[in-house]
Amino acid sequence: MALRALARVNLAAIERNVISLRSRLSGGAELCAVVKADASGHGAVPVARAALAGGATTLAVATVGEAAELRAAGLTAPVLVMGAISAEELPVAVAARTEVVAWTERFVDQLADAAAGPDPIGVHVKLDTGMGRLGTRHTGEAFAVADLVTTRRPRLELVGAMTHLATADGDQEFVATQLAAFAPFADELQQRVGRVRLHAANSAATVRTPASHFDMVRVGIALYGCDPMNEDPDNVGLEPALELSSYVAAVKLTEPGQSAGYGRRFVAERATWVATLPIGYADGVRRGLSNNFEVLIDGRRYALVGTVSMDNVTVDLGSARPSGPAPDVGVGSPAILIGRSGGQRQTVEDMANRLQTINHEVLCGISARVPRHYHRDGTPAAG
Ligand SMILES: Cc1ncc(COP(=O)(O)O)c(C=O)c1O
Repeated sequence: MALRALARVNLAAIERNVISLRSRLSGGAELCAVVKADASGHGAVPVARAALAGGATTLAVATVGEAAELRAAGLTAPVLVMGAISAEELPVAVAARTEVVAWTERFVDQLADAAAGPDPIGVHVKLDTGMGRLGTRHTGEAFAVADLVTTRRPRLELVGAMTHLATADGDQEFVATQLAAFAPFADELQQRVGRVRLHAANSAATVRTPASHFDMVRVGIALYGCDPMNEDPDNVGLEPALELSSYVAAVKLTEPGQSAGYGRRFVAERATWVATLPIGYADGVRRGLSNNFEVLIDGRRYALVGTVSMDNVTVDLGSARPSGPAPDVGVGSPAILIGRSGGQRQTVEDMANRLQTINHEVLCGISARVPRHYHRDGTPAAG
């Protein structure tokens, strides 16, 4: 189907990625599927369902609004809100029966006051072992938080202890330092309050560092078949789930000296066929890709030339001969920006590396204007 911009998401690939990742977990650890930021643009609800079908046992998001969206769709699995929750946002967390993260006694008091309903709100205490963002750096404060949670039964229940790794995709020495701080804290905590679920690993640690698996891993980017090290999904045996496409809406002969796009950043040196694809930076094809990316059409690679504009990009289809034939590529041909065409492949990481960023940011940048179509290995699926 020719749509000006389209993101096709293969839910079967997500399910297989979860199965593959679970098979690598040490000691029976569970997999928590991190579906924040609308599952990095893939669609939180369909991705959550696919991840649960693949054996994920918990879902995680960053915000209470994201948790409420999962509940509104009828998902009943445990949902952990990993981000900070303000006092104003607490009623949403309570209504959605989410699990939450705590690192101050003040927050625990506010939560206990807001908590209502038949079941306790599950709380994970967070120790900051080196990320330097959320969580407490002080084990004493973490123990105090845990103790307070246990005294606020039956409104609250301590269900987990966690930390977050700053360099899981890089410096393994620092990963070891963080784990060496977390493990004795977790032991002592469990002596005080009993068994809770311990978790530290993101995707990179899940793939690289079995010692970080504990009772649960929190996997985001790897669900989508992206490489947590931002190089190549093949390196980690994962299947990219998302294809971003457009189509050839116009082809025109560009004579020497004629140009394409704002600022005339492409000026033809020889007669050239130039195609226009109606996709642009408002869809997530960032302006930094101007004269700096390729698209796949009919199994061949073509250079993106000129400035990426809000709604269009232009592509060099090759030189034109005077009174020669029209180019092989015709109006209506599908054009792949991320995905496969014939034997050619272009990954989210390829786009990210051209932009000197990471796969997460590319995926989060695919805008709401781009329709998402769901399928399972080519068979249309419900979103
Ligand atoms: C606390 C926490 N855990 C786990 C993850 C998942 O990270 P990734 O997508 O790299 O697997 C995130 C996402 O950034 C996070 O904030």
